Amino acid sequence: WRFLPLLAVMALTLTGCGNEQLSALLPQGEGARMQFNLMMLSLYIMIGVFIVVAIIYTVVLLKFRRRKGDNEIPEQTEGNVTLEILWTTIPIILLLILAVPTVMTTFALDPDEEKIPKDAIRVNVTAHQYWWEFEYPDLEVKTSQDLYMPAGEKVYFNLKSKDVIHSFWVPAIGGKMDTNTATENLMWLKADEAGTYFGKCAELCGPSHALMDFKVIVKDKKDFMAWADKMKAAKGEPEGDLAAQGQEIFQANCIGCHAIGNEGSNVGPNLTSFGDRTTIAGILEHNEENLKKWIKNPQDIKTGNNMPQFGKQLSDDELDALAEYLMGLKVDGE
Ligand code: CUA
Repeated sequence: WRFLPLLAVMALTLTGCGNEQLSALLPQGEGARMQFNLMMLSLYIMIGVFIVVAIIYTVVLLKFRRRKGDNEIPEQTEGNVTLEILWTTIPIILLLILAVPTVMTTFALDPDEEKIPKDAIRVNVTAHQYWWEFEYPDLEVKTSQDLYMPAGEKVYFNLKSKDVIHSFWVPAIGGKMDTNTATENLMWLKADEAGTYFGKCAELCGPSHALMDFKVIVKDKKDFMAWADKMKAAKGEPEGDLAAQGQEIFQANCIGCHAIGNEGSNVGPNLTSFGDRTTIAGILEHNEENLKKWIKNPQDIKTGNNMPQFGKQLSDDELDALAEYLMGLKVDGE
């Protein structure tokens, strides 16, 4: 009974696995399904072993327990060749049943550079403390935080990091893989259907590691290509006078780190489609209030990030204009 609270906590933790946008236990992509099948195979074997051991244990306990008036020392036996062979062979067979599909899956998940189709969509992923950069070299598109990809085909990712080791993970579709600073890692993801999925950084990378989230927006191929065309053409034109004023403030203060379209620097996240985002900084609800809070004091929200406190130099009116401009930068959701 004293383990009851522990079991309750475990059950509560597991309910968190029921989110279909995030859960590795509800696979919605080829890679995730392959990994899920491996997990289930080992789980079934473990359950089988547990049941057999529990039955033998119970039978032995009941059958050979000391009875009333039973004061003699039981018969002493030493060694049993049949049993020795049995309990060596059975685990070997079980391990083989586990090992063969594990090795096959490992090879299937590891892409071979030579065999990647020429027209495959490729994405260069760069992890930063604490945000994600996504570049589509063939489509000439760059974005951040929201990763767009087509459904039903393998998309190939070149993963690297700008600062420390992070790990790129989209549990419901497949993954995960470390991003290193010196070397590039290659992996693929294939999502079954259009939808929005959650991605996480899965390697402790600093005080805001737990907040280093991103979204994966899967679209049908046609819609994905249309998105890429619009991204490529987007220039961040302001809509309305207030937004135009915001654009001037952006160009005076923000462009040294942030790019919109091809203009600006790539030190910080690319903001071409900022208005389409589903969250501010990957974690806050996407609205103007939160955006202004973020610009005013980013350290309050994501400790240790590299965004300077530019907002402190801006008046409330300037902040309003800047937020109006950024929230209006829509490519996908017009
Ligand atoms: Cu990046 Cu943890």
